Amino acid sequence: MIHVNDEMKQFHLTNGKISYIFHVMKNGQLGHLYMGRALHKEGDYSHFQAYDNPAPYSTHVFEDDPSFSLETVRQEFPVHGKGDFREPASIIVDDQGEFISDFVFKSFEVVEGKPELDGLPAAFGDKGSVQTLKVSLLDLTANVGVDLYYSIFADLPIITRSVRVVNKGERSVKIERLMSLTFDLPDADYEMLHLSGAWGRERHIRKRKLEQGLQSIGSIRGSSSHHHNPFLVLKREETTEHQGESIGVQFIYSGNFLAQAEVDHYETTRVSMGIHPTGFQWKLEPADSFQAPESVLSFTKEGLNGLSHSLHDFQRHHLINQKWMERERPVLINNWEATYFNFNEEKLDQFIDEAKDLGVELFVLDDGWFGNRNDDTTSLGDWYVDRSKLPNGIGELAKKVKASGLQFGLWFEPEMVSPESELIKKHPEWVIGSVARSNTLGRNQRVLDLANPEVVHYLYEKISAIIEESDLDYIKWDMNRNITEPYARSVRNQGEFFHRYMLGVYDLYERLTTNYPHLLFESCAGGGGRFDLGMMYYAPQAWTSDDTDAVERLKIQYGTSLGYPLSTMGSHVSAVPNHQTLRSTPLKFRGDVAYFGTFGYELDPSQLKQEEREEIKQQIKFFTKHRSLIQQGKFYRLKSPFIDSETAWMVVNEDRKKALIGWYQPKNMPNPPGNRVLKLKGLDESLIYKVNGHEMQLRYGDELMERGLALPVEFNGANHQAQRAGDCQSIIFELRSD
Ligand code: DGJ
Repeated sequence: MIHVNDEMKQFHLTNGKISYIFHVMKNGQLGHLYMGRALHKEGDYSHFQAYDNPAPYSTHVFEDDPSFSLETVRQEFPVHGKGDFREPASIIVDDQGEFISDFVFKSFEVVEGKPELDGLPAAFGDKGSVQTLKVSLLDLTANVGVDLYYSIFADLPIITRSVRVVNKGERSVKIERLMSLTFDLPDADYEMLHLSGAWGRERHIRKRKLEQGLQSIGSIRGSSSHHHNPFLVLKREETTEHQGESIGVQFIYSGNFLAQAEVDHYETTRVSMGIHPTGFQWKLEPADSFQAPESVLSFTKEGLNGLSHSLHDFQRHHLINQKWMERERPVLINNWEATYFNFNEEKLDQFIDEAKDLGVELFVLDDGWFGNRNDDTTSLGDWYVDRSKLPNGIGELAKKVKASGLQFGLWFEPEMVSPESELIKKHPEWVIGSVARSNTLGRNQRVLDLANPEVVHYLYEKISAIIEESDLDYIKWDMNRNITEPYARSVRNQGEFFHRYMLGVYDLYERLTTNYPHLLFESCAGGGGRFDLGMMYYAPQAWTSDDTDAVERLKIQYGTSLGYPLSTMGSHVSAVPNHQTLRSTPLKFRGDVAYFGTFGYELDPSQLKQEEREEIKQQIKFFTKHRSLIQQGKFYRLKSPFIDSETAWMVVNEDRKKALIGWYQPKNMPNPPGNRVLKLKGLDESLIYKVNGHEMQLRYGDELMERGLALPVEFNGANHQAQRAGDCQSIIFELRSD
């Protein structure tokens, strides 16, 4: 997969699906040649570099060769201060205060498999399925080395990249900026897509045309954030869901990030992704090294849905814990929206019995079971049970849950501490915050210094004691505020704080997942504030959003699917009127939306009417019947809630004999057009599918994809039934070919 042309100093990573080609330029720096659909592995592609393009007044590297200017060449690891005026991959300051670097090629090495990254989540793969190229560069003056790692995965149009900086000199240097990925595209004829929003409306798809200058997304909140997801797509204007070019970059990281496209005055585009340089500065003493997080790059000509398939497959086989990929995720019920902080043992006993009767498999006790926590002002950090609510302790509650045949899960917010808590009194030095200034609260809480190994150790001990006492099956790991006054006493150079904090979070996750491998983690950050590949490496599912309103969820889940598979999206049915939007939607509609994720409930079963109870039992039966299809299948987006008045999507299993289709109409349509059909995707055109088990409805795959699946009569034509159906209609179709 990795082909090196020694003579031409050219590196070509290809697996028949993607080609990524770069070379050593005249000045020893790396130049980018190509990224796209696979090209012949034997080819020499050095002519892709536009050397002979002297621009008037441009800088030139060699006195006697004005044709070679860093302003006009396309680069792979662009440096600062040597004549390229676009944003660089790195800024490294030497002990004289010089911001100038010049990284030139030194050596390379090809290794089978995928090396791990020190202390960081990263993609994995065995020797037969991944190859890694390590290219070593050196700044001869500063004596600083840079190792670039490129891994290519058999059968996937995916390349991962990461960077390590090594101080080989005798004096310290400071890294001010270090992008994990940079490459220059030859044109700027792209639209940029990203997933942005806010709490309660995370990961809406945004689109803009690339223009000269910088267009970027990022976070400096200490988490990847609700607001921008560490994921950027560049697509051609003509690219649709199902055909055309698109490029996707993702970051295996959960902290501050920057992702950007810079279009220069010659309409070339530099794509960069890495730790956000704002507030970042890493000091490297002699012999020290710094490992930047890994980034993921994908290219497809099969449209946005094709891009999603590559990313989903990559995550499923090379990032998510394989045990959890294979194991069916439990249907859960979470008491948060049912009780908030207001529960006791008696209430929970009843809750558990009723949940069991509904067919739920896992009971999750959310916030409020510890310390003295009756609202969100106290007790974070005091991880022992609140005996006034649970007089017999958490172990006894767990026994009852297990005796009823359910699994047991608990909520933690390990990274936080309440100003009113025992922990803060005992260890004020463990709290992040300014010494001289006032400190900002967020949800009435402060942030613990996870950069401090003592804090990580304390949390590990506290959490593992509860895991053992209650024989836990599941943990929901929440994180409910952004980080302000980022000053930690444990850190010498404060520019290192944010990244060291993330390393502490990952360390805690690593210890817990290693020592309790049976535990299922669901990550959460006030809903979907840390829905990223860093978290996904440890927690195979994430609470997609605090917004459980099914109409809003159409957008949130649809947008999320652009970058992440269904098996990662926590999606629950909650009570109506919905607590976030006050909207009432039919139970059927709520279930039909929530099926497409890791399914569960977020309501009080004792408040259900008998017919709702029966309907929920049926929903759970239906979901568990199709669970492996939903978790493992290929997801196709059919109609977008961002464009159409309807939403539709479907999931198809590997042998294409089973499919499940969801169609949703949030607003009723008067006098709808006749013959409404939904064109399906991903089926086998020569197979005959039975629709919803009806012997009379047998349809060939080609008909279903070319002409479409007809919507039932009540949604077609000037039909009075359609008017009566009201808002929030949905249909789930099952296709089966025996
Ligand atoms: C925010 C989460 O997203 C909710 O689901 C819930 O766990 C609350 N925190 C509890 O405080």
